[in-house]
Amino acid sequence: MDKKVCLITGAGGGIGSSITAKFLEKGYHVIMSDICDDCLEKAIEKHHFEKENVTAMPIDITCEEKVIEGIDKIKEDFGHVDVLVNAAGICGHYDRLIDYPFEDFKKIYEVNVFGTFLMIKSVLPLMMEKGKGAIVNFASVSGMRGYSFEAAYGSSKWAIVGLSENVANEYGGYGIRCNSVSPGWVNTFMMEKTIEEYRRLGIKDPENSITYGSINRAADPKEIADAVYFLASDEASFVNGENLVVDGGMIIK
Ligand SMILES: NC(=O)c1ccc[n+]([C@@H]2O[C@H](COP(=O)([O-])OP(=O)(O)OC[C@H]3O[C@@H](n4cnc5c(N)ncnc54)[C@H](O)[C@@H]3O)[C@@H](O)[C@H]2O)c1
Repeated sequence: MDKKVCLITGAGGGIGSSITAKFLEKGYHVIMSDICDDCLEKAIEKHHFEKENVTAMPIDITCEEKVIEGIDKIKEDFGHVDVLVNAAGICGHYDRLIDYPFEDFKKIYEVNVFGTFLMIKSVLPLMMEKGKGAIVNFASVSGMRGYSFEAAYGSSKWAIVGLSENVANEYGGYGIRCNSVSPGWVNTFMMEKTIEEYRRLGIKDPENSITYGSINRAADPKEIADAVYFLASDEASFVNGENLVVDGGMIIK
């Protein structure tokens, strides 16, 4: 394929589908991947994506075999991947650390950290062959500020900042850049779920008591997609190993 190819995990989700829209607008062919087959179909319909410009590829990123199988198919069908966006993630349930089940903690790491690792590991050889590539991973301000009840999610996202720096160091010399984005609140299913969890934990009026920062609202997923596109584009050709905070000023010191 002559067109640039962008592979997005979590592409059936709120942010992942907006990132898909952004890369399509920029002329890419987008491989939309998600564990949820149905979510991919719904996202394609909701955003009216033209079917010839997207390929839906369900993959559970925690399953090494499925990840390898998926990347092999991409190599066969497209020959290259120019951009990898690792947007798949889960927040799990929220609780105090002393009450947090080990199994749930591990599940969050399995998706957010190990899944991201597996995707990067499998895609890197394709990018190295081409001598060029950009990877954008999803961290979160949660990982940077240590919010209560989020030890599992927050620490998994902080791990992503470190992982991105490792990859940036090891593969910058192969023409491959790797960065992360750290959103604050973004209007998606995940935000709704977090507010519900806060309510369950006894936080009063969580919609209005959460801190948004000086812009005083949650982000539209499109605003996160713009930042991801910038990091992946040649406009950011000298940005490598950076964690771009896109939070409307929420964590200004
Ligand atoms: N929404 C926010 O406020 C917010 C804030 C900071 C960071 N983030 C991060 O942004 C990214 C996108 O989140 P979102 O808000 O769009 O959430 P979302 O729940 O709408 O989308 C996440 C997607 O990941 C997919 N997924 C989950 N497990 C998977 C697996 N094992 N394999 C493949 N896909 C899997 C889900 O099916 C879903 O479609 C996540 O990494 C999240 O942690 C979100």
